[in-house]
Amino acid sequence: MEPTVVDIKDEWKQGAGLDEAGYAAWYAQSLQDPDGFWGEQGKRIDWIKPYTRVKNTSFEPGNISIKWYEDGTLNVSANCIDRHLEKRGNQTAIIWEGDDPADSRAITYRELYEEVCRMANLLKERGVKRGDRVTLYMPMIPEAAFAMLACSRVGAIHSVVFGGFSPDALAGRLEGAASSVLITADEGLRGGRKIPLKKNADRAVEIAGKAGQAVDTVIVVRRTGGDINVVEGRDVWWHEARLTVAAECPPEEMSAEDPLFILYTSGSTGKPKGVLHTTGGYLVYVSLTHQYVFDYRDGEVYWCSADVGWVTGHSYIVYGPLANGGTTLMFEGVPNYPDTSRFWQVVDKHKVSIFYTAPTAIRALMGAGDEPVLKTSRKSLRVLGSVGEPINPEAWNWYYRVVGQERCPVVDTWWQTETGGILISPLVGATKLKPGSATLPFFGVVPQLVDNEGKVLEGAADGNLCLTDSWPSQMRTIFGDHDRFEQTYFSTYPGKYFTGDGCRRDEDGYYWITGRVDDVINVSGHRMGTAEVESSLVAHPLVSEAAVVGYPHDIKGQGIYCYVTLMEGVEPTDELRKELVQHVRNDIGAIASPDKIQFSPGLPKTRSGKIMRRILRKIAEDDFGALGDTSTLADPGVVDDLIGNRQNRK
Ligand code: WT7
Repeated sequence: MEPTVVDIKDEWKQGAGLDEAGYAAWYAQSLQDPDGFWGEQGKRIDWIKPYTRVKNTSFEPGNISIKWYEDGTLNVSANCIDRHLEKRGNQTAIIWEGDDPADSRAITYRELYEEVCRMANLLKERGVKRGDRVTLYMPMIPEAAFAMLACSRVGAIHSVVFGGFSPDALAGRLEGAASSVLITADEGLRGGRKIPLKKNADRAVEIAGKAGQAVDTVIVVRRTGGDINVVEGRDVWWHEARLTVAAECPPEEMSAEDPLFILYTSGSTGKPKGVLHTTGGYLVYVSLTHQYVFDYRDGEVYWCSADVGWVTGHSYIVYGPLANGGTTLMFEGVPNYPDTSRFWQVVDKHKVSIFYTAPTAIRALMGAGDEPVLKTSRKSLRVLGSVGEPINPEAWNWYYRVVGQERCPVVDTWWQTETGGILISPLVGATKLKPGSATLPFFGVVPQLVDNEGKVLEGAADGNLCLTDSWPSQMRTIFGDHDRFEQTYFSTYPGKYFTGDGCRRDEDGYYWITGRVDDVINVSGHRMGTAEVESSLVAHPLVSEAAVVGYPHDIKGQGIYCYVTLMEGVEPTDELRKELVQHVRNDIGAIASPDKIQFSPGLPKTRSGKIMRRILRKIAEDDFGALGDTSTLADPGVVDDLIGNRQNRK
């Protein structure tokens, strides 16, 4: 029998100083007096001009407005670098571990300062000003962090696009952000394989250009030394340019509500949305959560294995840890290269104390057995974290027992791109753990469960997860489309922010995220809108209609299952199936690769023409015994064909 509750161990209690009662007291205060609580916490970062107003937020329909510390001014890069120089100039800020185990680098706070200033000066030289959008398309190398911090130094807004996205996806984001400056690398390197970033970037710039978005500067970091095309006047080699600019650059004084970054994320409908985060509240919140959730202690090595292309990389590789003067590890590679011991070898090599990763990686490594873990020491580890998708209790227990030797608490952190920072999570030393539960809300966070009609559910219940009040790192808007912001997050349950997640609250008040309740799926911790995959499929000349759903996948969490109706007279072949998979990969990126494609002459629709996804989900799950009511279907016959040709027989 697995334990259902893991009690707090004495050795977990010795960090930040909060215990269970301390958490409860702080939490209560944060709700009773948000201005007092956040007014105090805001002091953990340096302000140029101190704020006098703390919280000014409204979730009221027609007037969604979120402002924190609005009259304060500050600079994020100065908070992440300059203010640490006196005490930590020679401390390592970033440890970089390359794809090849023989490759690593340590960058001190002093060096970070100089590199960021140089990059900032280069941006200025290329005409970048406050408020301009700079797009990053980078591998996991320190220059990615330099570029983010350089943008914040000059007051530019960065938009990081994950290096696995296609040229088309990158072009769409350049257009969406109206960005004329791009920072990339010659090639990326992952698992021994090269990724042609500059080649993709060239193509993206061409596509964006045709759509009216000119890119006039492409800064290129040399990573592999591979052959690339250089466009005179437009392309700038970083390794050359950095020698020509000063290593000092005064930080811009930014208002707390000036934008810091845009990050595109998928929703249930339409194109990916540019989630906009701002400066002051974001930094206060990510710094506070990084300290208390993980119990970060001075001098420790902290490692988050995410990519900087996702929000986890923004908040918990770069901004949170550096705001706290921490040592953050950046890993270029993958968990199974050169072999499945790699994570734990890196932990031993750099004496990592806190390790934060995704359930999909844990499940994949669990599948390789205990031996690759047990042959490493891992004795530096003190805390383990999980993020991105629900962690099943089996994976949780393996992580706790085998990786952490039952010494290290597992903090399962629930949050979203939109929330900027962790909202529901245990705090090391202050929260009893339950495998599979993200446990309790962070300070100032007010979760609420509602049924489909919006009725508030009290006590132990299962419902849709909302947040009834704002927290400092909440997204402020969708870049350029405030109406869509209100429509997407505040219209389902007026007066509340709706997360899109289903959730259960147990008798102890613990939260158990059950997964998305909208048409968003979570594939290996990557968020994918089914509508995006559908529109890619129907753009193929031989496809007439497509419907995409998620299904449970042992490693990925969810797999991508596509129902495709072909044009009249087109033969459904395995060749075509492969071609469609390739088509979607080219269009969006490898993370959107369909796992299953079922050719179906018809899709189950109501008489009004609405596709009944409930039925498609059941068939994809191979659970068609419980299809429910199919009497409203226009042609109930299609269901038999769908079942007969299902691609996922158990
Ligand atoms: C969605 C947000 C937060 C950074 C990474 C993903 C799911 C995230 C958990 C967790 C259960 C989780 C939710 C959420 N999710 N963390 N600990 N337990 N589900 O950010 O791409 O914006 O995705 O990921 O469904 O809504 P994202």
